[in-house]
Amino acid sequence: MLGNFTYCNPTKLYFGENALDFLPRELKKYGENIMLCYGGGSIRKNGIYDQVISSLQESGKNVYEDGGVMPNPTVEKLYEGCKIARENHVDLILAVGGGSVCDYAKAVSVSAYSAEDPWEKYYLRMEDVDNKIIPVGCVLTMVGTGSEMNGGAVITHPTQKLKIGHVFGENVFPKFAVLNPVFTYTLPKYQKVAGIYDIFNHICEQYFSGEDDNTSDYIAEGLMQSLIHASEIAVQNPTDYEARSNIMWTATWALNTLIAKGKSTDWMVHMIGQSVGAYTNATHGMTLSAVSMAYYRHICPYGLSKFVRFAKNVWNVETGNKTNEQVAAEGLSAMEKWMRELGLVMNISELGVSESMLEGIVNGTRMMNGGYKQLTKSDVMEILKASL
Ligand code: NZQ
Ligand code: ZN
Repeated sequence: MLGNFTYCNPTKLYFGENALDFLPRELKKYGENIMLCYGGGSIRKNGIYDQVISSLQESGKNVYEDGGVMPNPTVEKLYEGCKIARENHVDLILAVGGGSVCDYAKAVSVSAYSAEDPWEKYYLRMEDVDNKIIPVGCVLTMVGTGSEMNGGAVITHPTQKLKIGHVFGENVFPKFAVLNPVFTYTLPKYQKVAGIYDIFNHICEQYFSGEDDNTSDYIAEGLMQSLIHASEIAVQNPTDYEARSNIMWTATWALNTLIAKGKSTDWMVHMIGQSVGAYTNATHGMTLSAVSMAYYRHICPYGLSKFVRFAKNVWNVETGNKTNEQVAAEGLSAMEKWMRELGLVMNISELGVSESMLEGIVNGTRMMNGGYKQLTKSDVMEILKASL
């Protein structure tokens, strides 16, 4: 049975090759002080920075730059951003980049006027926002996280070795997002495929949970099929607009709250992957790919009928006279083959994890309870050892 829910997604999207032309229309709605957040410099090399700056200038805005947002943004950087936002009475935070920049912008938006330490309030105590929120807009350059249309903001505390996501409500979603698939053409292959797997895993996290007949699961299967198809084309030909645009659109729908509505969800691959990320600072999508096969093989017996459905509907596995266990295993093998062909990292050693880190990674893993098996610490340890 579909559970009860409310649904509202307030983010306005501009999608396509001319999407950035609509930026002035959005800028008009806000005051004159704009904080421009971006990463380590890719937007300066590929020309997106110049395009955004001229749009801001034409709109008569005062621009306060906050570059150098690192992949897996840190709490120290967050404090720095809060200061810039407060001191300049920023009216809008414009994030130009990938999930890290968009997440960071949202974290600054809720933290700049927080009376308490935002790490403790939002990330350790998981409290709601009760102070002024600065509006955020995004110009997306890296596809995967869905951050452009959701309330997620993941922050890393390097000394505490914790990487934690807070999923904020509609009031923190970006007000608008500019999605031009061409902006993703310059992504290095490593980032491109990491993003593709991030999308796939977001869908899996919401699919591998519950037994109900649920519209969301059918949508999820369609999204997975489109992504698998487009990914194979995009890896061969990075400038195939059709494939890149389908990947971009799939990423948004994979994590903009729609497919989780009315059903339970898992999220344990993300919880383990995030803890691996806290110890290694590895690329998010790769932390997921490196633990996924061990995780799904570990839980498969507990959610067998869903894994059979996944094998048949997503990977076109023929059932014939095979047992359910065989069909499910073939589905996971097909998924593994696709992942290896994309060139994903398939073990945590390659990300820099050593045996001595495992206990800390287990302790840093937040336990969720929607998956087919409620994991214990020893389950997580087993999965990590199988992923080494
Ligand atoms: O920093 P620059 O120089 O811009 O380079 C970036 C960065 O090194 C580069 N890049 C981005 N666009 C590019 C480009 N290089 C060339 N051409 C372009 N067009 O790509 C690198 C990675 O960028 P990043 O933003 O870190 O990647 P991603 O989008 O995967 O974001 C990862 C962060 O998002 C969080 C992750 O945990 C991680 O911190 N997540 C956020 C979620 C959410 N908001 O719901 C959910 C996800 O599960 C995830 O946890
Ligand atoms: Zn993710």
